Amino acid sequence: MISQQQEKIISTLNELYNDSKYDHLKMIKGAAKSMFRPMQPSDFKEAYLSISKEQGEGLVQLIKENNLKNVVEFGTSFGISTLFLAQGVLETGGSIITTELIESKAQRAIETFKKAGVNDLIEVRIGDAMKTLKNHNAPIDLLLLDGWKDLYLPLFQMLESNFHNGTFIYVDNAEMAETQAFLKTVAQNSKYQLLSLFRRKSVLITNKK
Ligand SMILES: C[S@@+](CC[C@H](N)C(=O)[O-])C[C@H]1O[C@@H](n2cnc3c(N)ncnc32)[C@H](O)[C@@H]1O
Repeated sequence: MISQQQEKIISTLNELYNDSKYDHLKMIKGAAKSMFRPMQPSDFKEAYLSISKEQGEGLVQLIKENNLKNVVEFGTSFGISTLFLAQGVLETGGSIITTELIESKAQRAIETFKKAGVNDLIEVRIGDAMKTLKNHNAPIDLLLLDGWKDLYLPLFQMLESNFHNGTFIYVDNAEMAETQAFLKTVAQNSKYQLLSLFRRKSVLITNKK
C-alpha cells in the first residue's frame, strides 16, 4: 500500500513533470545563448533537464532492493530526481545530500522538498559540487551523477575514497559524447563493472565482486 507521504511525493512529481513539458523550448533558448561560446549551466537556469519517470522509478527500486541509505547527488536542478531518491530512502531510513550550482534552482528545489514533506531527508548544498562535496568523508551507498559531464571524472575521483564494495554509481546522460571519456576511464579500471540501462541513457557502475 502507498503511504500518504509517498502519495504526496508522487503528486509533487506529477506537477513538476507537467511544468517541465516546455523544457525543449527553454533548451533551445539556452543553446542559442551559447552559440559563440561553450554552454554554461546558467544558460539552462529555467530548464529542468530531468531524468525520466522510468529512470526515477528504477532508482527507487534500486534503493529499496539494496537497502541503500547514504545517497549523494550531483545536479539537483528543480529536484525531480531528488524526489525519486527521497521516495527510496523514505523506505530504507536513509538520507540524501544533493548539490546545485545555480542558486535560484536550488532555492526552488528546497521549496518543493518542503511542499512534498521530505525536506528533513535532504540536505541541499548550493554551489560548485567540486567545492560543496570536497570534504565529504562518509560512506556513499549511491552516487547519482547528473550535472555537467566534464565534472563526472574529477568528482568520481574526489569521492572514490568514500565508496565501498556495495556502492552504486548511477551515471545519467551516458549516451552523450561528453560522457564517453569518463566511462572509458572507469571501464579500464579492473575494480569496476558497467551496466547499460534504458537504451544506454544511464550506466550503473558497481564493484566487481
Ligand atoms: C541535468 S540537470 C539535473 C537534473 C536533475 N538531476 C533531475 O533529474 O531533476 C544538471 C544540473 O547540474 C547543475 N550543475 C552543473 N554544474 C554544476 C556544478 N559544478 N556543481 C553543481 N551543480 C552543477 C546544473 O545547474 C543543472 O541544474
